[in-house]
Amino acid sequence: MDKIKRFRRYEDSLMSLTAEILIRAVVRFKLGIKNESIKFNRTAYGKPYLEDYEDFHFNLSHSGSWVVCAAGSKAVGIDVEKIKEIDLNIAKRFFSKEEADDLFSKKEDEKIEYFFDLWTLKESYIKADGRGLSLPLNSFSFRIENENIIFTAESEQANYFFKKYDIDREYKLAVCSMESQFPEGIHIKSFEEVFEYLFSY
Ligand SMILES: CC(C)(COP(=O)(O)OP(=O)(O)OC[C@H]1O[C@@H](n2cnc3c(N)ncnc32)[C@H](O)[C@@H]1OP(=O)(O)O)[C@@H](O)C(=O)NCCC(=O)NCCS
Repeated sequence: MDKIKRFRRYEDSLMSLTAEILIRAVVRFKLGIKNESIKFNRTAYGKPYLEDYEDFHFNLSHSGSWVVCAAGSKAVGIDVEKIKEIDLNIAKRFFSKEEADDLFSKKEDEKIEYFFDLWTLKESYIKADGRGLSLPLNSFSFRIENENIIFTAESEQANYFFKKYDIDREYKLAVCSMESQFPEGIHIKSFEEVFEYLFSY
C-alpha cells in the first residue's frame, strides 16, 4: 500500500513537472519570453499565474497519460479526466440536484460518459474562477443537450463560456473561459517536441 502511495506521488510529481514544462513552452511561444525569465506564482487558492503579465491567463490539468493547458487573455480553466468505472451515487453528493436527476435519467450505457462530461465542465469552471473546491459544487449546474452546454449559476453565468474537446476516447476534456471565442481544435504535441522547443535557442 505504501509502495503504491509512493508511486502515485512520484507519478503526480512527474505530471506536475510535465505541466510546468508545457506552460513554459506556451509562454515562450506566445510571449517570446525565455525560459529563465519566466516566473510563476500562485493565488491564495493555489491557482498558478504568470508574474508581471496580468493579461496572460492560463490553466493546466493532468490525468492518466495527458497533460493539458489552455491560455488566453481572460480567465480560463481546463480539466481532463480519464473515464473510469465509478459509483455514480457520488453525483448525489457532488453535483446539483438537477445535474444528478439528468444523469440518472440517462440510458445505462450513457451514464458514465455523461458523468465525466459534467465532472470536467464543473472542474473547468471552478478552475477558471480560481477558487477551486472552495466554490460549492452544487451552487452551479450544467446540462448538455444536443452538444449544447447550458450553464446556470447563482450569479456571473453570463461571463463564462464553455467548450468540450475530443482528445481521446478514454478521456473527457472541458475548457471554461471568460472569452466567448474558442479555438476549433486542440494542438497535440509529444513531450519531446515541447521539451526541445522550450530549451532551443
Ligand atoms: C485542485 C483542483 C483545482 C483541481 O484538481 P484536479 O482536477 O484533481 O487536478 P487537475 O490536474 O485538473 O488540476 C491540477 C492543476 O490545477 C492548477 N490549480 C491548482 N489550484 C487551482 C485553483 N484554485 N484554480 C485553478 N487551477 C488550480 C494547478 O496547475 C494544478 O497542477 P499541480 O497540481 O501540478 O500544481 C480542485 O478542483 C480539486 O482538488 N479537485 C478535486 C477533484 C474533485 O473532487 N472534483 C469534483 C468535481 S465534480
